[in-house]
Amino acid sequence: MNREKVLVTSALPYANGRIHLGHLSGAYLPADIYVRYKRLKGDDIIYICGSDEHGVPITITADKEKVSPKVIIDRYHELNKSAFEKFGMSFDIYSRTSLPIHHKTAQEFFKCYYDQELLVEKKSMQFYDEKVKMFLPDRYVEGTCPRCGYEEARSDECEKCGSLYEPSELINPKSKISGETPVLKETSHWYFPLGKYQERLEKYIAGMSEKYGWKDNVLQYCRSWFKDGLKDRAYTRDLDWGVKVPIDGAEGKVLYVWFEAVLGYISATKELSEIRNNSGLWKKYWQDTGTKYIAFIGKDNIVFHTIIFPAMLMAWNDVSEEKYLLPQNVPANEFLNFEGKKFSKSRGWGVDVLEFLEIFPSDPLRYTLAANLPENKDTDFYWKEFQGRNNGELADILGNFINRTFTFAFKHFDGKVPAADNLDKIDLEMIELMKSYPGKVGSLIERYKIKDAVFEMMNLARAGNKYFNDSEPWVSVKKNKEKCAATINICLNAIYTLGELFEPVVPFSSEKIFKMLNTQKCEWEKCGELNLKAGHKLNQPEILFTKIEDNVIEEQINKLGVVEGEAPKSETTKDEEITIEDFKRVKLKVAKIISAERVKKSEKLLKLQIDLGTEQRQVVAGIAKSYEPEELIGKKIMVVANLKPAKLFGLDSQGMILALDTAENGKVKLIEADASIEPGTTAK
Ligand code: 2FM
Ligand code: ZN
Repeated sequence: MNREKVLVTSALPYANGRIHLGHLSGAYLPADIYVRYKRLKGDDIIYICGSDEHGVPITITADKEKVSPKVIIDRYHELNKSAFEKFGMSFDIYSRTSLPIHHKTAQEFFKCYYDQELLVEKKSMQFYDEKVKMFLPDRYVEGTCPRCGYEEARSDECEKCGSLYEPSELINPKSKISGETPVLKETSHWYFPLGKYQERLEKYIAGMSEKYGWKDNVLQYCRSWFKDGLKDRAYTRDLDWGVKVPIDGAEGKVLYVWFEAVLGYISATKELSEIRNNSGLWKKYWQDTGTKYIAFIGKDNIVFHTIIFPAMLMAWNDVSEEKYLLPQNVPANEFLNFEGKKFSKSRGWGVDVLEFLEIFPSDPLRYTLAANLPENKDTDFYWKEFQGRNNGELADILGNFINRTFTFAFKHFDGKVPAADNLDKIDLEMIELMKSYPGKVGSLIERYKIKDAVFEMMNLARAGNKYFNDSEPWVSVKKNKEKCAATINICLNAIYTLGELFEPVVPFSSEKIFKMLNTQKCEWEKCGELNLKAGHKLNQPEILFTKIEDNVIEEQINKLGVVEGEAPKSETTKDEEITIEDFKRVKLKVAKIISAERVKKSEKLLKLQIDLGTEQRQVVAGIAKSYEPEELIGKKIMVVANLKPAKLFGLDSQGMILALDTAENGKVKLIEADASIEPGTTAK
């Protein structure tokens, strides 16, 4: 057999927050399905991932919590590692970019470029905070846009009008760390001359794409980058958290996170070599010409994996005997949204993986996400769809086929595989059909059409049910037991085939299927054949998929977007400090409740009309468990009057009412103003 040697990586997630379902659909689940399938096929494959533990967002979170970045990365590395484990990700290693082996590797690459005089040193003016004595990365500076007057513009870019300008043009700049006005100070950085590689990169992508069929979405991104022309990119930053720049005179500088993060794939493989006591392992996958390297990512990472990383590897390969392989394919996915909107932790929109897996098992989630991957366009996770796929497909089609077959085998054939003699046309057709599936499914997965592959897997279960129905074993068991035996034999073998085909998608259930069949996975080559022989003893069946009731799903739907009245979920007990200016931005006003009614299909929400003195507004509030609508009329309550309007359950909500969290079963108590106070009165 021709075994392929394959290296697979999934984007290294920032150790700065919890993994949510969107991450899974982008870079992780499709890769895991691909890898599991290749392992079943007997290919020689390793699967690499780990935490990306540097970068400004991590230092911002650490500053906010007043802890060191190490505390943040340790926390989220562990949380995300365990989320991935529970979800069934089958990484060979889940490493970390804070490890010495990574720092060393990243520094070696930088040195290699530095020594060949590839890097260009350039001076520029950057904001510097004299109070905390540090250069401020773009996101740390806020000021007024010199073009449109937007007050929360960044140091060199305005989010509102999209203009780019020199930091010196920003009006009234403020450091987000100290609140002080920063000064402009000269600094110098090393730039990587991406432009030098443009021609070779274009050739590389065209060549790979022609041979291995790159996805259109990926090619489109690349084309637009090439069209603009690749520019020099700063390889260093003024920051103290990260990989130190390994040359004299570069104190206080670290490597730009993206330049070192992509090298994290290599360092993680080196770590795996050490763990496995096999020093040559990492080279075999990164440098043997027979290996193919596939990099799974989400669309926001495309430029780094198709342009920056390949250019870095080219620049290394130009001067080294040890030549790295460039990605053979970068099957990037688009985004998964949640019930029609972007995931947002602060708005309570979407679920993270650990939260999800506390309530539901992993396989129904894997199946639902896999059946709806954003392969060519953004897709959405809907709770109702999750319920539908679990109940209507996993339980009613796959589970039912397995269940009815096992029931028959135990009731009429003593829990053993019966003989399949004297086959009819319908039996032969089913056997042929089964045989065709491994090839069909495999070829789709090889082409990263995972969604279609999953559809085909379920089709075989559908065909199994149809064959069972058409064969009518409940009739033949009485009239022609030999025919009935053949039917059950073929159904059991179809279940074996399904167990194997579905393993990459629902590995936990697949393991149960093999246990029930009292067997192991078979060689992929033999998958789809009549592998279970007459007389083979089966184990007692167990329930594979439990149906999810409506109220369980509704409870989840009701949680969506409701953050009022609930203590914000925080990983820490420490309160973040804010300035008086921060506080002044919140407009707190007294409002009188004019009317209140329940929001249909929501246990938690009430729709209120409130009088704010100068205007009336509608607010949707999560207080239905605490108050009857009638008792609210006339109450004078406190509201955040300048909260961005939002939609809850399709209803406009303009403002947020203040309530005390009683920590009692989600119950809250409204903060009321004295009856003598006029609506619209502000609090300070
Ligand atoms: O988008 C992200 O979460 C990045 N941390 C991905 C890095 S992928 C690679 F460069 F390591
Ligand atoms: Zn602007």
